[in-house]
Amino acid sequence: MQGERPGDAAGDALARAEEAELAARRDSLVSPLADADESAIESALRPRRLTDFTGQARVREQLSLILTSALRRGRPPDHLLLAGPPGLGKTTIAMIVAAELGALLRVTSGPAIERSGDLAAVLSTLSEGEVLFIDEIHRLARPAEEMLYLAMEDFRVDVVVGKGPGATAIPLDIAPFTLVGATTRAGLLPAPLRDRFGFTAHLDFYAPGELEHIVRRSAGLLGVRLTDEAAAELAARSRGTPRVANRLLRRVRDYAEVRADGQVTLEIARAALELYEVDARGLDRLDRGVLDAVVRRFGGGPVGLSTLAVALGEEAETVEVVAEPFLVRCGLLARTPRGRVATAAGWAHLGLDPPASLAELPTLFD
Ligand SMILES: Nc1ncnc2c1ncn2[C@@H]1O[C@H](COP(=O)(O)OP(=O)(O)OP(=O)(O)O)[C@@H](O)[C@H]1O
Ligand SMILES: [Mg+2]
Repeated sequence: MQGERPGDAAGDALARAEEAELAARRDSLVSPLADADESAIESALRPRRLTDFTGQARVREQLSLILTSALRRGRPPDHLLLAGPPGLGKTTIAMIVAAELGALLRVTSGPAIERSGDLAAVLSTLSEGEVLFIDEIHRLARPAEEMLYLAMEDFRVDVVVGKGPGATAIPLDIAPFTLVGATTRAGLLPAPLRDRFGFTAHLDFYAPGELEHIVRRSAGLLGVRLTDEAAAELAARSRGTPRVANRLLRRVRDYAEVRADGQVTLEIARAALELYEVDARGLDRLDRGVLDAVVRRFGGGPVGLSTLAVALGEEAETVEVVAEPFLVRCGLLARTPRGRVATAAGWAHLGLDPPASLAELPTLFD
């Protein structure tokens, strides 16, 4: 039965949010989602081993323990769940897990598995110790999800043969394997699935110093000459996201090659990113438009979402789902019960003095 479940509505909302993101940031360099033609370059820049992987120190240490102990015991490790926003390294870590174990890696995704038969075909052909990576695991169809429960726990699948009253389930043993699931929304996973993972790694946005290191490493791989100041500048504008950092690097490289001698200096990086409309904190045109409207047109707020959206000529969803989260995360904008309010940092970011009354705001809305 294809029953409704609470996760479905939330899953649809997520898919819509990703579509909104893709549509609203089609020409933006700071979208956390991968472009269709970005996968080849991304795989060239992926760290292959845990020691090459920058940042996420806690996750790295946790994984290192799990993998080392599994190797010592000569048994596949527990199933692993990787949770976190797009572009932070989930796919990269899944590949590293297989490489560290010296295991084969099978890659699929929730949306690619339409029927439970598709999953049965994958599971029954796994070899012992293989790593099965299911990306976007929160989008797995329910019958497949139920098949996965049994496979994860007992290394068994029930293959249903025939239809109607004569249908029989034939149990089929499968080789012990390790499932690595990735999700941008751990909260959407049904509890029985979440509980079957032995370990969940929560990935967080990267610190500027970590992104600087990543940018310098990528520059080395791409053969781009990059000064330390330029690396720091790119890191500061990358919104805590390695995917964005690598993308900014490629665009400033283009600029340096065409307009200068190929070396990316601080001046070149700044000029290029001004041209591409990525500002000092990584805000793009849409983000700045939202902040600018709140401050300049509505005196800093509070202003309601729909009024703000109309003033910008954008969909309310675009403002709320695509632009606001980052503005809130950097402390430039606050969502309050009475509407959106620009913070003192928000005013300062636009080069304006905040009104004196704002000094009291944080206590009001904290
Ligand atoms: N810690 C890191 N060190 C170096 N590069 C990284 C790191 N994390 C991610 N990257 C780079 O960022 C890019 C995106 O990473 P990845 O594809 O693993 O993200 P993801 O979390 O799987 O994103 P999505 O949710 O969109 O699938 C890759 O090119 C990868 O090389
Ligand atoms: Mg991925």
